[in-house]
Amino acid sequence: MLSIRSFMLLFLSCIAVRMNLCFTGIHSSLKMLSINGHFEFDKVQFAARDFGNRYRYYPAAVLHPSSVSDIAMTIEHIWKMGLRSELTVAARGHGHSLHGQAQAHQGVVINMESLQYPQMQVHTRNFTYVDVSGGELWINILHKSLKYGLTPKSWTDYLHLTVGGTLSNAGISGQAFRHGPQISNVHQLEVVTGKGDVVSCSKEQNSDLFYGVLGGLGQFGIITRAKILLEPAPTMVKWIRVLYLDFTTFSSEQELLISAENTFDYIEGLVIINRTDLLNNWRSSFNPQDPVQASQFKSDGTILYCLELAKYFHHTEDDIIDQEVTRLLSQLSYIPSTLFISEVTYVEFLDRVQVSAVKLQSKGLWEVPHPWLNLLIPKSKIKKFAEGVFGNILKETSNGPVLIYPLNKSKWDNRTSVVIPEEEIFYLVAFLTSAVPCSRGNDSLEYILTQNMRILEFCRTANLGAKQYLPHYTTRNEWQAHFGPMWETYVNRKNAYDPLAILAPGQRIFQKAKSLSSWLPHLNST
Ligand SMILES: Cc1cc2nc3c(=O)[nH]c(=O)nc-3n(C[C@H](O)[C@H](O)[C@H](O)COP(=O)(O)OP(=O)(O)OC[C@H]3O[C@@H](n4cnc5c(N)ncnc54)[C@H](O)[C@@H]3O)c2cc1C
Ligand SMILES: *[C@@H]1O[C@H](CO)[C@@H](O)[C@H](O)[C@H]1NC(C)=O
Ligand SMILES: *[C@@H]1O[C@H](CO)[C@@H](O)[C@H](O)[C@H]1NC(C)=O
Ligand SMILES: *[C@@H]1O[C@H](CO)[C@@H](O)[C@H](O)[C@H]1NC(C)=O
Ligand SMILES: *[C@@H]1O[C@H](CO)[C@@H](O)[C@H](O)[C@H]1NC(C)=O
Ligand SMILES: *[C@@H]1O[C@H](CO)[C@@H](O)[C@H](O)[C@H]1NC(C)=O
Repeated sequence: MLSIRSFMLLFLSCIAVRMNLCFTGIHSSLKMLSINGHFEFDKVQFAARDFGNRYRYYPAAVLHPSSVSDIAMTIEHIWKMGLRSELTVAARGHGHSLHGQAQAHQGVVINMESLQYPQMQVHTRNFTYVDVSGGELWINILHKSLKYGLTPKSWTDYLHLTVGGTLSNAGISGQAFRHGPQISNVHQLEVVTGKGDVVSCSKEQNSDLFYGVLGGLGQFGIITRAKILLEPAPTMVKWIRVLYLDFTTFSSEQELLISAENTFDYIEGLVIINRTDLLNNWRSSFNPQDPVQASQFKSDGTILYCLELAKYFHHTEDDIIDQEVTRLLSQLSYIPSTLFISEVTYVEFLDRVQVSAVKLQSKGLWEVPHPWLNLLIPKSKIKKFAEGVFGNILKETSNGPVLIYPLNKSKWDNRTSVVIPEEEIFYLVAFLTSAVPCSRGNDSLEYILTQNMRILEFCRTANLGAKQYLPHYTTRNEWQAHFGPMWETYVNRKNAYDPLAILAPGQRIFQKAKSLSSWLPHLNST
């Protein structure tokens, strides 16, 4: 119950906010910290935007840290104010979240890209790894490690994302079937907890924090430094696309490929509905094996499934790579005239999405709303999912690509925080849509959001056991259902590392100033 006194305080603090007194308070209290970087109180608009382009929460301040101690000092300061302060803290990587996850309403956003320490360094002693700042972009890590003939093993499709941002989710791409997601390829982390403690952690040292932070949605600490495992890098890539008309054949061949000993280095897939233009596009950028036949292949409103593959090689293996690719392809039963092959450098392959990004940016089409939906679907239900969604709920894929490819759970560590379905094999299905601003048609934000809701509703009623990747929910019950049996561990970790719920408020899982006991009633007794 609210006492008269606290009611008066609340009332007065509302007036204070009105009069901007609170802001001045925040300014002066943060300004007193003797940090090496700086706080920005005016140019903070960028921190209220993200790739999703739908949520906009303005922070009170942005910290441009120049060292981990800047981050630790700021968080410790806010931690010590306790519940007297409503300030929260969001690490912002490259701001490529979809639902404001890196934003902090009236809080402090930490611009992780300003953190240039430690200077990126490749180590090649007992095992090879790169030591990077949590704000480092994966594209920079690629260029640096290639100077040593090395490369990280597991990627995302797009490399202009930060280490801290993808490790807080999982980091999934076409290499994950073999190496696991990016969170399976981390040797060590340095983390600043919600109390301002700087903690070094790994599988051996402070392992609960290490696993908690991986896939932890930023809830337990800010990743300030990471050691990422490396392997010898190839120089060239055979990049292949083939088409199927039948979903069952397509998916069972994907599953065959990911379980084979000797296979491709990258395996993904796409669903193509009502898009001849896309095929014409490939004809110009890929080399059809048989140009005449390929030019005759047309899709007329049918659904096509595209298997996308890559085989890495070195220049010196020029002579054997074609035989190897032919041998691997010979086990597959795609439509023969739809074999598209292109040969690109390793960097061109990994940074492939940047080409489209730059094109879209130049046309002003990158900064539109992105109502993306990412799902993980158990293998036993993928056919049901495909039947219910492709061509039914989803009538065309002209609003953006739809990715679909299988992953093997054995490459995921169940001690991390990421939530995946319960089967050994599950599929990532990514609806990467763009909405056209001001449109009222089937490319409008409203239309796409309704479609997403219908897909989620279908998964729920058909009881598919699907899990959201890059999850977004609005209620406690939904979060609890998302985590399922892991919820208790998740809340216990929150209680241990960020008990005031200062960190990553934009995920909307926990809320500052609400007692933790409301999340897990029995915490009261401990
Ligand atoms: C074009 C595009 C392609 C993508 N492709 C893939 C893909 O192939 N595979 C895949 O797995 N994902 C993919 N993603 C999703 C991407 O991994 C997430 O959106 C990720 O959050 C973006 O990273 P970021 O560095 O911009 O993080 P932000 O959006 O800045 O942050 C994401 C979350 O992590 C927190 N956070 C940020 N930095 C840190 C840190 N150092 N320590 C702790 N918490 C932190 C933030 O507070 C926020 O809650 C893609 C996104 C885009 C826009
Ligand atoms: C690296 O190798 C040296 C010598 O072989 C060994 O003493 C050391 O413990 C190893 N370090 C790690 C981290 O494995
Ligand atoms: C998943 O990976 C494990 C370990 O590599 C392997 O034993 C298993 O056969 C794989 N499962 C499938 C269905 O490919
Ligand atoms: C393709 O689009 C047309 C209308 O543009 C629609 O009638 C048809 O059903 C679509 N095909 C599929 C497979 O959804
Ligand atoms: C996690 O995986 C290990 C080894 O694969 C297994 O023994 C353990 O039971 C799993 N734990 C949970 C909670 O699933
Ligand atoms: C989507 O809208 C466009 C333009 O309004 C139209 O040409 C197309 O047929 C529509 N597609 C579907 C599946 O309704």
